[in-house]
Order: sequence, then structure tokens, then C-alpha cells
Amino acid sequence: MTTFTKIPEDERPTITVDARNVISPISDYTYGGFTEHMGRCIYGGIYDPGNPVSDENGFRKDVIEAMQDLKVPVVRYPGGNFVATYHWMDGIGPRDKRPKRPELAWLGVESNQFGTDEFMKWCKIVGTEPYICLNFGTGTLDEAMAWLEYCNGTQDTYYANLRRSNGHPEPYNVKFWALGNEVYGSWQVCQTTPEAYAHKAYQWAKALKLLDPSIELILCGESGFSSWDSYVTHKCFTSANLISMHSIHLYTSSDVHLQNVTAPLAAERAIQMAVGMIDLARIENGVPPSVPRPKICFDEWNVWDMFRSPGDKGAEEKYTLSDALAVAVWLNVFVRQAKHVGMANIAQSVNVISPLMTTQTGVVKQTTWWPVWLFSRYMRGETVGVNLRCGEWEGETKPGWIRGTVETPWLDVSAAKGGDGVVSLAVVNLSEGRDWEVEVEGVKGEVEVFEVGGREVGVTNVEGREEVGVREGRWDGKGGYTFPRHSLTMLRWRA
Ligand code: AHR
Ligand code: AHR
Repeated sequence: MTTFTKIPEDERPTITVDARNVISPISDYTYGGFTEHMGRCIYGGIYDPGNPVSDENGFRKDVIEAMQDLKVPVVRYPGGNFVATYHWMDGIGPRDKRPKRPELAWLGVESNQFGTDEFMKWCKIVGTEPYICLNFGTGTLDEAMAWLEYCNGTQDTYYANLRRSNGHPEPYNVKFWALGNEVYGSWQVCQTTPEAYAHKAYQWAKALKLLDPSIELILCGESGFSSWDSYVTHKCFTSANLISMHSIHLYTSSDVHLQNVTAPLAAERAIQMAVGMIDLARIENGVPPSVPRPKICFDEWNVWDMFRSPGDKGAEEKYTLSDALAVAVWLNVFVRQAKHVGMANIAQSVNVISPLMTTQTGVVKQTTWWPVWLFSRYMRGETVGVNLRCGEWEGETKPGWIRGTVETPWLDVSAAKGGDGVVSLAVVNLSEGRDWEVEVEGVKGEVEVFEVGGREVGVTNVEGREEVGVREGRWDGKGGYTFPRHSLTMLRWRA
């Protein structure tokens, strides 16, 4: 959490960090990924058989190494919108018997050459946990239960045996299962109403938990600030404790830098609003405190302008430094709201609106890779309270409701304390024109410095010309620290 005191712009800003002010653990799942059968995410992204950079499974080794480097703890699969017409049985068994199907979310053809068993193997190699999203479009409950039994079944039953006969004797123990994806949307096959969805989700949840009580189910919310969220939380978060998290999605973007980098603050308010709705549901449903308070699963987030990079054209966004700083603000939001965030998944992990792009011969790390890499590496452990005194940017925001709802200080900050006792302070200087010299109170001894910046906010990383990376340095911790214009700085010291 960060508390903010607005001061005149000619006064020197202060950031106060006291490592004793621990607020809550930061879930490791905050740094989750997402791989959808969409564009070049699966085919050409994680699965590229025949390419010399791929292993004997057809998995790209460079992408696996990148995921390991990011320490991605969990990966959502197989969609996204794709899942609304996906039948998982098409994607198992001998490859030459798998049917090709028309695909209705992104209007391609699904070859089914990559399916559940390949995804599980890929997760194992990467060292990450799978998170499956169920088909709430054309799928049935029988099919969903069969999928769960195929993945987790240990008894002598049909689908567990089918997994065994496909060469996988051990259960996959998939813990996280989503009850559909964006089923409220006009773009969905089988778009539905909150009433119909809440009823169905609750009934499916009951059956799935009967089949495997160890799983955690995720409810399909909308943005966190809609009446859909209000309705479905009210109906589904009951004393029966069937559903563990509430999913929300948001994509932000603007060609105007300051709108772009402040847009993720909408997500911060969205988390708080959704948590309020969950609390209200629990109060009105008389849920006892012994039932854990559901957390937010922000299982799609990123910078994305879907007109600039449409989904049916592969959504290969080319990210600027401004976008990297927006992603840093997104991550600050999750650290500040760590108490409420059970999981977050950047959409997506490779090629599709992603920090990581594959070429025929290798990978390119986009500008947005670097904030994700820094946060996943260092902003783990516990979130620490910070007080920020500085000036505020006062222009028009996108969405417009940010203005008048939350503040937009020139500096966006969060702090974490790791298990090793090291404090990490992340500071985004949003300004395009002003370096801010800041009093950083609470710093002790030598400070490690990591900085993500660049010539101007429009610079990008393309093959052969990567303008944005991480610069490492040291600071003696004395006097003020100058946070350069349009940059992310991480300061690290031993508490
Ligand atoms: O991540 C791309 C798409 O965005 C997902 O398929 C969908 O869930 C969302 O609308
Ligand atoms: O681009 C198609 C759909 O339109 C996206 O999946 C959704 O997020 C948007 O509203």
C-alpha cells in the first residue's frame, strides 16, 4: 500500500519506507503467464516442431529458457476466447488422429497438434504450474468433469485410465480451474447473462469439487467495476466455500504517454471495488469468518490497443518505453494490492501482446520484458507500506473516470521485503520532461540500483536494435536520489 500526500511541484518529493511496516505476503502467483491458442502464442511460440531451436518435443528451447529466467510460477491455458469452442479431447492421443477444427474466436484453423498432455509436459520442463480454463461456451459439465478426471484422477476410472494409456501414469494435479472466460462479452460464443452464468458456475463448482476437493476454482468476473461482478459474487461466494478467487480482466493503452502510464491505476481501483463486492456478498450471505475471503485473480492484464493490433491478426503489439512504464505501474498496482491479489497473469506469455517475441532463429525481448523481469525477480515476499509526498499530474485520463476517483502522482511507487531481508523499492517517474530529485527516507547502507529507461518514451526493442534494457549501478544512499524522466528505478538495500 502507498499513502500519498500531494505537495507543490517546487517542493522536494519524499518517499518514506519503513521495512517494519509489512502489510501482507505477495503471492508468488502474481507473476503468472498465459498461453492461448491464438496467433503465434502456441504454434510458433512455445511449439515449433522442426525448428532447430526446438527440443525433441517440438518445444522452443529459447522460450523455455525465457520462462525460466522470468520464474513464471503458473501459466493459464488454453484461452481466453479460444476456450469457448474448445473440446479438449480433440487435443489428446496420437497426433495423426487429432481432428482439425475451425476456430471461432480468432477465425483460424486449430490443428490440435498441441493439447493437454503437451501443455503439461511443457509446464513441467519450464518448472511452472498449469492453470486450466474450462469451456463455458459450447462445453458441457460432463466434458469439464472428464477433463478434470483426465488431469487429476487417481482411481481406476475411464478418463484417468485414458491418461495412463496415453503414456502419463502420474496425475498432473492441476490445482487451478477457471469457470469460463469473459462469458459476459458479445464476442463470446454462447455469451450469457449474469443470472444464467451464476447458476451454472455454482452448479459446475459443486460437481467439480465433488470430483476433486483439492482444486481451487476461479469465478468469471468482468472488470471488477461492473454490475456483472456485483451479481456473480453475490450468488457464488457463499458459506459453501466452493470458489476460491474472482477473476477480472483489463487491458489499458493510449497513444498519449501520461494517459498510457496512469491507465493501470484503473486496475487498482478495480481490485478494491471487486474486493468490496466480495465482502458485501459475504456479509449478505452470512459467510462465517472461517471461510477464507476470496482473492482477486487478475488473469488477463497488459497494455493492449485492440484496434492497433487486432486479435484475429495475431495481436503482435510492438511495445514502446511508455508501454514498459505502464507495465511497471501495473506491477506496482499488484504489489500495493498484494493483500487482495491471489494471482495475476500477463496476457500473454509469447508473441501475442507479449513481452517476448520469437523470430525464426531466436527471441526478442520487448521493452515490457524488463519491468516484468525485475519485478518477478525482486518484488516477492511481503508488501511494505510506503508514504509518498510529491506533485500530481492533472491531465485527462483514460479511462476518464480515473480522474476524480484516484490520484495520479508523478511518481508511482511500491515496496517489497524479500525473505532475505532485502527491501526493494520500485519507482516509476512518469514525467517525460522532468527528473525528480527525491528524499528517500529509510534507506540503509549501500543501495543496488536497477534502471529501465531510454532516449524517449517512443523507443522500442526490435531485432538487432534493442533500445531498452536494465542498467545496473550503485548508490551510497546519501542525499537525494534523482529518478530520471520516463524511467523505472528499483532501489535495493538490506533492512
Ligand atoms: O488475451 C487476448 C484475449 O483477450 C483473450 O482471449 C480474451 O479472454 C480477452 O478478451
Ligand atoms: O478483439 C475481440 C474481443 O474484443 C476481445 O477479445 C475483447 O477483449 C474485445 O472486447
